[in-house]
Amino acid sequence: MSLPRTPSFRLDRRRALVTGAGRGIGLALACALAEAGAAVTLCARSGDELNRAVAALRERGDEAEPLALDITDHGAVEAALASRPPFDILVNNAGMNRPAPFVDVDLADYDRIMGLNVRATYALSQLVARGLVAAGKPGAIIHVSSQMGHVGGVDRTVYAASKHAVEGLTKAMAIELGPKGIRVNSIAPTFIRTELTASTFANPERLAWIRSKIKLDRIGEVEDVMGAAVFLASDAAALITGTSLLIDGGWTAG
Ligand SMILES: NC(=O)c1ccc[n+]([C@@H]2O[C@H](COP(=O)([O-])OP(=O)(O)OC[C@H]3O[C@@H](n4cnc5c(N)ncnc54)[C@H](OP(=O)(O)O)[C@@H]3O)[C@@H](O)[C@H]2O)c1
Repeated sequence: MSLPRTPSFRLDRRRALVTGAGRGIGLALACALAEAGAAVTLCARSGDELNRAVAALRERGDEAEPLALDITDHGAVEAALASRPPFDILVNNAGMNRPAPFVDVDLADYDRIMGLNVRATYALSQLVARGLVAAGKPGAIIHVSSQMGHVGGVDRTVYAASKHAVEGLTKAMAIELGPKGIRVNSIAPTFIRTELTASTFANPERLAWIRSKIKLDRIGEVEDVMGAAVFLASDAAALITGTSLLIDGGWTAG
């Protein structure tokens, strides 16, 4: 009898672009994809951080290159992609937050957050998808959204709006790109310990709120997000598109 075989979780011979990969969740996701066999391009603004990460990846035998640019600079992004073959995997991870009460939000911050979390994600996805379609290749696009793409949160009106937009984008892109063999999904983590969340964790009131909502009773670590990216990028997720994988310790369960 021939038994069903688990489709591969390996990513050998695939090229992956990860934005915001100098530190935090993006660096962890780049490491995870590289460990699964992908050749990774790590993108962020800080060249020094990228160079250190790429050197460490190469030291352990992985294929990696740095790409220092601001992804809100569309011309720079276009030029960088034009000089490279199409990426099989795109992880739109670069994102930001400026927590503030709704009534105090500065509209310049609104534009900055939306400009990075939504517009730059949208524009880069467009370029990568165009490259794949022109080459007739399948692909996997993963947006790093947030549990705040599913629920709201204190001082997070702009951030939650941006991540809900990313969730809508995931679904609508999946509808159009599915027939072309390009899968589009999001990863929606709860609070993860990175530079982005340091100020929130330093506030005892906010920390108590977070601990009260996470059923597994601990804050997330970057390692908690790594397996999801490998899974969604791989053939093991071949029929998965247009959905969001919550990594929220049970936050949104109720
Ligand atoms: N940490 C959490 O609790 C959490 C939870 C849910 C979702 N998320 C999402 O996960 C993603 C990563 O979060 P994180 O906590 O790892 O953030 P982080 O520690 O602040 O790291 C952000 C990364 O993005 C890069 N970046 C920022 N602006 C950029 C730009 N304009 N162009 C290119 N790169 C840029 C940063 O490098 P440079 O400054 O050098 O450019 C850095 O490498 C974000 O989308 C965030 O919304 C985070």
